Amino acid sequence: MAFAEWAGIAAPYDRSFGALCACTVPEVLVELAAAGRLLDVGTGTGSVAISAARVGWAVDAFDAERSMVDFAMQRADAAGIRFVTAALPHLPYPDQAFDAVTANFVLNHIDHPRAGLAELRRVLRPGGRLVATVWPWEATPTGRLWRELQDETGAYPPPGTRLPEGSDFDRSEEGLAGLLAECGFAEVRARRVHFTWRVDADELWSGVEAGIAVMGYAYAAADASTRAALRAAYDARTPALTGDDGLLHFGLSAVLASAVRPVQKSDS
Ligand SMILES: C[S@@+](CC[C@H](N)C(=O)[O-])C[C@H]1O[C@@H](n2cnc3c(N)ncnc32)[C@H](O)[C@@H]1O
Repeated sequence: MAFAEWAGIAAPYDRSFGALCACTVPEVLVELAAAGRLLDVGTGTGSVAISAARVGWAVDAFDAERSMVDFAMQRADAAGIRFVTAALPHLPYPDQAFDAVTANFVLNHIDHPRAGLAELRRVLRPGGRLVATVWPWEATPTGRLWRELQDETGAYPPPGTRLPEGSDFDRSEEGLAGLLAECGFAEVRARRVHFTWRVDADELWSGVEAGIAVMGYAYAAADASTRAALRAAYDARTPALTGDDGLLHFGLSAVLASAVRPVQKSDS
C-alpha cells in the first residue's frame, strides 16, 4: 500500500519534507470560509490541523500511519483536535459530517485518488468546501538538485513510484481542477502558490535518509558507498544554495485547488 513508505518516519518528516508541506498552510486557510467543523486528511505531523484549530475550527484529523498520528497528537498538545488512524478510501465518519475538508499534499500520495475523493465528498456537507494541494510535475529547484545528485552518482529511484495509468492525474492547475470536477465537485478553482522554503541542510538530508520522496527512494535503494557519494555530492552543492541565514533557500510553488460539494435538490 502507498502509505507503508510513511511508517516510523514522523520525526525526520517533520524536520524536512513536513516543514516543506507546511509552507502552503496559510494559503490553505485563506481558502476556508468562516470556521466550523474541519476534517484534515492525511494530517502527517498535523501542520494544517493545528493551524486551523488555532483560528477557531473544530478539527478532526486522520492519517494512515499511526506514528504520524502519535507525533501530531503530541505536537497538538491541548488544541482539542480529534486524531484517528484511518486510511482513504474508507473513513470512519458519518455522511456530511464536515463543513470543510483539507488535503495538503495527500492526493498525490494515495493509490486511488478518485475513490479517495468520492469518500471526501461523502463526509462533506452539501455546500461544504474541499481544499487540496499537490506538487506540480515540472522541474523545481529541489527537483534539479536531486537530479544532479542522481546523475552524478547513478543512484536513481526505483521505477514504479508513480500511480498506475488510469489512476493518475496531471499535476497542474488544470489537472487537479479537472480531477475535482470529474469527482463531482463544483465551483472548482485552482491556482499556483509561490513561496521560498528555507531549510537547514542537515535537516533536509535527514528526510532523504528516512527514505522520503523521490530522493529518499533513490537513497533507500542505494548501497553504502553510493549513499556516501550522494551525501558528498549534496555537500558540494549546498553552499551555492545557502543564504546569509545559513539555511538552504528554494523558490518553489505548489498547485492549490478549492471546490465545493454541490447542493442537490434532494438535500433541501
Ligand atoms: C506528504 S505527507 C502530507 C502530510 C500533511 N498533510 C502535511 O501537510 O504535512 C502525506 C501523508 O499522507 C498519508 N497517507 C498516505 N496514504 C494515505 C491514505 N490512503 N489515507 C490517509 N493518509 C494517507 C501519509 O501517511 C502522510 O502522512
